This record gives sequence, structure tokens and C-alpha cells, in this order.
Amino acid sequence: MSGPATQYPNYSPGLEGVPAGITSISKIDSDRSSLQYRGYDVHDLAEFGSYEETAYLLLHKKLPTASELAEFKQLLGSERDVPAEIYSVLAAMPKTADSMDTLRTAFSVLAPFDPDYKASPTDHDANIRKAIRIVAKASTLVGNGHRIRQGLNLITPNPEHTAAENFLHLMTGQEPDPATVKTMDASLTLYAEHGFNASTFACRVTVSTLSDLYSGIVAGISTLRGPLHGGANEEAMRMILEIGTPENAEPWLRDALANKKKIMGFGHREYKKGDSRSFYMSKVAKELGVKKGITIYGEIADVLEKIMADEKGIYPNVDFPTAYGYYLLGIPIELYTPIFAMARVAGYSAHAIEQIDGNRLIRPKAIYDGDTNLTYVPIADR
Ligand code: CMC
Repeated sequence: MSGPATQYPNYSPGLEGVPAGITSISKIDSDRSSLQYRGYDVHDLAEFGSYEETAYLLLHKKLPTASELAEFKQLLGSERDVPAEIYSVLAAMPKTADSMDTLRTAFSVLAPFDPDYKASPTDHDANIRKAIRIVAKASTLVGNGHRIRQGLNLITPNPEHTAAENFLHLMTGQEPDPATVKTMDASLTLYAEHGFNASTFACRVTVSTLSDLYSGIVAGISTLRGPLHGGANEEAMRMILEIGTPENAEPWLRDALANKKKIMGFGHREYKKGDSRSFYMSKVAKELGVKKGITIYGEIADVLEKIMADEKGIYPNVDFPTAYGYYLLGIPIELYTPIFAMARVAGYSAHAIEQIDGNRLIRPKAIYDGDTNLTYVPIADR
């Protein structure tokens, strides 16, 4: 019964190329491999700005002045801690829980603790306040969620810390060094937002029913988890470790391609000439490797990148260099996707608010391709 997708005019599998809404939050220029948040190049934000400045820009639609940023950071710092009940729920989960299950559950449990829980889902100011709490608490939930799974004591966030500092402090139990913070902060900035990707779209679909912001965040995190999306950074690192040496990279890749394997951290629906964020993160990760005297991952990356580009015309996406960059920073692999999520909640929130402020229910059409007009046979006669 099922026919090839091409038999349906106006149908694009995976909604490729289908405009699904209008946004002023970010612009992807596929031909130029560029990404701008509200008109600003992400590289400038990553190099000269900060994740906090980026979150302000996404939520408040303008870059902050120095005093506005200081106030915003203070507000985020004051909102970092989470109610003890959240930790009790996380502690009741199996220690083997996937770190994304921990994070998704944490946000779900957090919702009714928000002081604006009873506010109307269309209350713009309440949604901004909720968004700030969500952004503030995400690094705490990832950091202390990790500690709970590891059976470690919880750490109270330092309100002076940024998101990058807070996460690193909670993950290690130590004050992070400035160079590590800078790399982490840049990666959070690059991960903060990316148009109508699958998880942001899921978030927008959810709030378009006038459900609440937290439900949108939970939908986003649930969708981000898969290896074709946010989960790719963890899979990419496992792949690099499996390859093991630069010498093994070419035979490994040729074998994988011959067996029609997807190479994790490569390819992108929107960027066919390369993901601009990967250029920046490659430079950062390779420099980090040289600094640490561990260049093996950069060398494996060089081999994979060259063969993939020459033979498949496919380039690395942001998840590829970020994976070995995080590995060089000593971050456990199972935290890579939660880190992506902890950055992306700023983008989810901005999109949810944009959707709600100009809402129309998202409800596309399905093409029915099944039986029709069958005669119902009573169960006893089947
Ligand atoms: N390895 C090998 N072949 C690939 C890859 C890859 N990573 N990506 C695309 N291709 C091939 C694919 O096999 C197909 O070939 P053919 O036409 O011969 O069947 C062609 O390129 C088109 O691929 P597609 O999967 O139809 O393209 P898409 O736009 O639907 O998928 C993608 C985009 C990201 C899902 C895909 O490139 C992929 O699976 N990549 C690996 C997973 C990954 O790194 N995901 C992270 C995406 S970026 C960060 C984020 O937003 O989360």
C-alpha cells in the first residue's frame, strides 16, 4: 500500500526545506555556513561575549549594556539553586539512569516549584521570569544530577558563578580554571540556539497548544536526546575512541562507509558546505590538544574530515569537534548531551515565548496512505 514519498506532490520527507514558521531569533545561512543570533554572528558572541550575554540577547532581543549584564548575571546567580525535593526524586532514580533522563525528569519535577507556576501560559513577563530560572538552574541540574548518579555529595551552587563555572564546579567539586571556563563558555554560546531544529520545533509544537514553558523544555530535552540530534556528540566521542589511533582512522572510516554506517558528528540538514560552529570548535579543540600535548584526537579528526569531504562531500557538524574538546577537558562522555541541553534551554525558552506571543496552534496535515472503507468484522468472526 505504502508508495514512495516522491509520489506525493508538496510532501518533503523530514519536512526538509519546508518553512514551518517565522522567527527573529536566529538566522542560518546555509550557503555561507553562517549562524547569527538576533543579527549577531555566533563567533563574535563566542569569542568576545559570553553565554550569559547570549542568553540575555535571546530572551530580551538586544545585547545588554554592562550594567544590564551585571544585573542579569546576579539574577541568574540568585536562581541557580534548586529545591531539595528535586534532588530526592533524582536520587530515587536508578544510578544507571541515562543522564538525559535525569535532566528531563528534573525539569519536569521543577515545574510546580516555579513561583510563576500558576501564571497564565500566555503571560509574557511570567514566561521571561520562568525562562531565567530555567536557564539559571540547568547547569545545577546537570552538575548535581551527575553527582547524584556518581553517589557523590551535592554541592550548593556559588551565586557568583556563570553557567560554565557552575557546571564545572559541580562536576569536579573544584574551582574551575579560567582557560577551561572560557572553552566551556564558548561551546555553550555555540550550542545556545539553532533555529527550527528538531528539539526546538518540538518545544514550539508543545507550547503552541498553550501548554506551559516547562512542558516545552521537557519536550525539547526529550527530542534532543537522540543520536541524530544532540546525542551525536556522545556517539562521536565513542567513535573516536573506537578508532583509537590516527593510523586506524582511514581503514576504520572506509570500512564504516562500505557498511553504510552513519559517521557521527558529520552531516547537517541545514549546512551542506559545513557547519560554521564546527570551524570555530575545531580550532578551539585542536589548540586545546596542542596545549595539553594530546594531539591524537585532532589527528584522527583531520583524517576523517578529509576523507568525508573528498569522497562524500559531507562535513563535520558542531558535535564532532565539541566531543573531543570536551574529552580533552576531562568531561565524562555521558554529560555531553546534557551540556548541549543546558545551553539550548536559552534557545528553547526564546522560541517558546516567541511562539506563545504570536501563537497559532501547530497542526500540520498527514497524507493518509493506508486502507479505506474496510468492512468491520466482529472480533468473534476474525
Ligand atoms: N555519515 C555518512 N553518511 C551520511 C552522514 C553521515 N554522518 N550524514 C549524511 N549522510 C549521507 C546519507 O547516508 C545520505 O546518503 P544517500 O543519499 O546516499 O542515502 C545523504 O548523506 C543525505 O543524508 P540524510 O541523512 O538524508 O540527511 P538529513 O538531512 O536527513 O540528515 C543528519 C542530517 C544530521 C541527521 C545526518 O547527517 C546524520 O545522521 N548525521 C550523523 C548524526 C549527527 O551528527 N547528528 C548531529 C546533527 S548536528 C547537531 C544537532 O543539531 O544536533
